[in-house]
Amino acid sequence: MKMIPWSKPSLNIKDRRLLNKAFDSTWISGGDYIKKLENFLKKQTKRKFAFATSSGTTAIHLAYLSLGLKKGDEIIVPSYGYMGCSNVAKLMDLNVKFCDVDMKSYCLSLKNIKKVITKKTKAVVLINTYGNLGEIFLISKFLKKKKIFLIEDAAESLGSVCSKITSGKFGDLSIFSFHATKNLTTGEGGMLLTDNSFIAKKIKLFRSHGVDKLRYKHLVFGHNFRLSNLLASIGYSQSKRLSYINKKRLSLYKLYQKHLDLKKVNLQNFSNNKKAIPWTFALTVKKKININKLSLFLYKNKIETRNGFFSPSRLKIYNVRKNLFKVSDYLSKSVICLPFFLELKEKDIQYICRKINTFLKT
Ligand SMILES: Cc1ncc(COP(=O)(O)O)c(C=O)c1O
Repeated sequence: MKMIPWSKPSLNIKDRRLLNKAFDSTWISGGDYIKKLENFLKKQTKRKFAFATSSGTTAIHLAYLSLGLKKGDEIIVPSYGYMGCSNVAKLMDLNVKFCDVDMKSYCLSLKNIKKVITKKTKAVVLINTYGNLGEIFLISKFLKKKKIFLIEDAAESLGSVCSKITSGKFGDLSIFSFHATKNLTTGEGGMLLTDNSFIAKKIKLFRSHGVDKLRYKHLVFGHNFRLSNLLASIGYSQSKRLSYINKKRLSLYKLYQKHLDLKKVNLQNFSNNKKAIPWTFALTVKKKININKLSLFLYKNKIETRNGFFSPSRLKIYNVRKNLFKVSDYLSKSVICLPFFLELKEKDIQYICRKINTFLKT
């Protein structure tokens, strides 16, 4: 039996055809597919401006630069989630304040944000962990009133909808990642979206060397955060079947719910966000065990899993006091993510669930 991987990109012959077309056109840096992919994301999210980037992380970096964030500025980020937003903030010498997440949704709650927010807070990053938008609707209204920037890290939530608003539309800026594991992939790539024309102008400048119209005339210290046309062609091809991809992801999630012994586990809770598109199948187990034992047992049975994100308390580089983020620390040590990709068959899911159910029974 072959190993069942945790994730696998879904690529098809149509993606290859478009990639070949981009290659044959010789437009391998800039080119039409970048605009096409940007237009797709604009339409999908109903945003006014979209800028393709070389990764989700560079989109975050570009978001901070375009908001004019600078050394010492206070920014709130979740203490559970992919650490790209805090790593970049640290690289820019921003004052990173971690905020604990909600035990059930794995996302920031308004209550927790209110506990850490100060008069100095310039921006909050919400991470839609594993596709869950949590309380984003409430939080975005609250931050708007306070005139604090909201950056939506939607890297894992392309297609999720909350209160009739599509992920990618919340806050001042939203980012997506098109890494190989994401709902839509270009291998490496990302997107930054906004409705604000002033911010959009800045994004355009910083994305491309600080140059506007006149070549080689640098107006600000910009960078090269651009996506290649070759990669954009794959993403554009995938965009045509995004609704199929997301439907499929939902059905895989439901199959896990059908076959797993739900009395033995706590699933990530999507109750605030019933129209979420799950990015993985994340859970903790009720039994007091070291989750690594379960993942090792599954690995021996040819099932690859992923551990939860490390909380800052478990990352030396962040140098934070232990036990400061109780929920994040718990999730960090307890979450396990099960295989989740389009090619998974019901019999694979049955097999995975059977192994887990057996393990948790003993
Ligand atoms: C929530 C989140 N934000 C940001 C990133 C960074 O994106 P990229 O890998 O495209 O730089 C990722 C993952 O890859 C992510 O899951």
